[in-house]
Amino acid sequence: MSSTAAADPIGRDVVIRHLQALGSLEAETGPSLPLGITGVRLEPDGSLSLDGRNLVMTERRLSDLLDVDPGIRYLADPDAASELYRSGQDPVLYRAVRRFLPSRSLTSRDLVVAGNDDEARGLLTADLVVYEPGVLPGGEPFRSTGHWNLPGQLEIFEVLSGRIAMLVAGRNRSGEAFAYVQICPAGTTMAVPFDIWHVSYVLDGPAVVFNVSARLQEAGLAAGTDKYHRAKAVGLTLKRDLTVVGDDDAFREWGTPGGAPATDWFTDLLAPGQSLADLHVHGSPEQLSTVVRTALDAYDEGWPMMPR
Ligand SMILES: [Fe+2]
Repeated sequence: MSSTAAADPIGRDVVIRHLQALGSLEAETGPSLPLGITGVRLEPDGSLSLDGRNLVMTERRLSDLLDVDPGIRYLADPDAASELYRSGQDPVLYRAVRRFLPSRSLTSRDLVVAGNDDEARGLLTADLVVYEPGVLPGGEPFRSTGHWNLPGQLEIFEVLSGRIAMLVAGRNRSGEAFAYVQICPAGTTMAVPFDIWHVSYVLDGPAVVFNVSARLQEAGLAAGTDKYHRAKAVGLTLKRDLTVVGDDDAFREWGTPGGAPATDWFTDLLAPGQSLADLHVHGSPEQLSTVVRTALDAYDEGWPMMPR
């Protein structure tokens, strides 16, 4: 078999332009997503592709949500959700590619391909989640399970397509309890405070959400420990009409969820046109350091209850 020369990208461009001009090449199938590299597309069926190759995603279905210990997840109407499952329906709530991008160092440009123990090493990890449109019996939009972030865990999200709502609850650095709902249309980038409970709900789907996360203490960038991990679910949840329902105890402990906090401190941390994934892949250590330092400073100042 004879060897072939390496593909000529210029020649490829010419052929594609030629076929497009003749009408012999179909339009690209879905919008290109700003994921730090070119060629990632959302297909009409809600799947994702990279250079035309399907991304293998892990499905989370209603049954997975029902399997979670009821002590660490909170559903508006678990009986109705169980009844739906028993009737033979087990819809996909969301699909995820964990470690969508190589994890990266917060202090250098190193990207770690297919690494191990990336969180424990204090690396910045990157996940991609696609929420399917739909509503659970009980009135909640399709949703994540919800979990507590670690005390030293910085987590930032960017909604790339669709619209989501994030329910966030916790205590700020001074111990004041808070709860809020942040509505996030495509193009929204938002950070969540440290040591918080959060649940994502799809309002318009499929909703593509990219997020980065790092344990700052493991990275040597903050004092304290990351080991403490709360489990018990916050007994509040969001319905499709954007009302929050929950246990009386939860409303007493966390308050009635309000609107999203001011995150002015975060606004200018990304350069114009720079996506969160661009930051992950291409951002300088100095830029990442500024993001981390600014988040820690905001937390010191009371985030999410910021002085105005
Ligand atoms: Fe999280």
